[in-house]
Amino acid sequence: MSRKQTSEQPKIQIKNVYKIFGPDPQAALERAKQGASKTELLEESGHTIGIRDISLDMPAGETFVVMGLSGSGKSTLIRHINRLIEPTAGQILVDGDDVLQLDEQQLLDLRRRRMSMVFQRFALLPHKSVIDNVAYGLTVQGVERAEARERAVKQIELVGLAGFENQFPRQLSGGMQQRVGLARALATDAEILLMDEAFSALDPLIRTDMQDQLRELQATLHKTIVFITHDLDEALRLGDHIAILKDGELRQVGSPEEILLHPADDYVERFVRDVNRGRVVTVGSIVEHIPTLRLPELDPQKASAQLDQADGDTLLILDDDSRPVGAISRRFLEANAGRSASWWQDSSNLDEVHTVTRDSVIDEMLPYVSGSDTPAVVVDDEGQLVGVVTRSGAIDALAKVPEPEPGEPAGEQQERASA
Ligand SMILES: Nc1ncnc2c1ncn2[C@@H]1O[C@H](COP(=O)(O)OP(=O)(O)O)[C@@H](O)[C@H]1O
Ligand SMILES: [Mg+2]
Repeated sequence: MSRKQTSEQPKIQIKNVYKIFGPDPQAALERAKQGASKTELLEESGHTIGIRDISLDMPAGETFVVMGLSGSGKSTLIRHINRLIEPTAGQILVDGDDVLQLDEQQLLDLRRRRMSMVFQRFALLPHKSVIDNVAYGLTVQGVERAEARERAVKQIELVGLAGFENQFPRQLSGGMQQRVGLARALATDAEILLMDEAFSALDPLIRTDMQDQLRELQATLHKTIVFITHDLDEALRLGDHIAILKDGELRQVGSPEEILLHPADDYVERFVRDVNRGRVVTVGSIVEHIPTLRLPELDPQKASAQLDQADGDTLLILDDDSRPVGAISRRFLEANAGRSASWWQDSSNLDEVHTVTRDSVIDEMLPYVSGSDTPAVVVDDEGQLVGVVTRSGAIDALAKVPEPEPGEPAGEQQERASA
């Protein structure tokens, strides 16, 4: 397993955290470190491993998903972040501060101002109206009532519930109640949102709506969100990074594509096998090289030489800023061999290329390559060439899960492939 190293300090760092439940966690910890399995520990001394030697860096402004089946340790993990649970061993840092070293006042501050939680069962106050529920965290902080309500109204609007301010939770559907939960969490302006299975109790369609809403909000708010789910589709839709837990252990952490394209082990592979990759894998991660020539240098001889040298069928023509302006195939070369120099210099005579940005998913570019031998051209935000995606490249990425190469971390493989 490998992670991209960034120079920026992660918002949240989990360092070698163990949590063992039972009468003598320290003794059990020694056994766990010696390699005793979760089952063994439970059988020999009645201790349960909640999480085992977990280390994770969660970057600021990302949605970081922790995924795993029931009992895999997700809730245990997230509760360490606001110290609802104390680790048996290890460290938790928020903005570089060791959460375990905080005194009572600092801890209160951490829970009230620096992070807020969204719960699975909404946990709204039943006798308070929507607006009072949303304003609640602010009043607890000591914000004056009128201001708290004013700020609450803004959040209610943001989650699409304008007009429902004076309703009570029981008058709202589950989806609407969870929007209130979300508005309440957003109201305090905390930089970190902790969401433990926040959408799991909702019906599928409403759940998808909520995922869309969260993505939309996140696109402007850039919170650091720790989102817990047992649902792979949800993880893939929401996560910038996903950590996969099994029996309290971290099996893999990576971007959705890294996990789909390079599952770290059999367990992850089985987990992701049936996923529709076309909706997740971005074209930027499967680009291939293509021979290029700049328009001012273009003539049939150079084009032909370039194709021969690259042993390719298609040559991409770029302008002086590395933006693709057209393509040339061998057939095209032969058909137009007798044209004048000025004809070759006019990019409108060339075969048209379809460009897609590197963060488009495969499903979006498939229509351009499905009936064509010309690859789709992948460009960055400035319109400059990144590479191409061919029909066969796209189909490969959709169809198969490549075997992880022994000894080669998936993340590095990924980076090389997209370099
Ligand atoms: N307070 C507790 N006491 C004893 N065992 C616990 C406690 N909380 C969690 N566990 C155990 O720790 C493991 C992880 O639980 P949990 O973090 O709730 O998993 P998840 O949220 O992924 O469903 C499970 O085996 C669970 O039974
Ligand atoms: Mg849980």
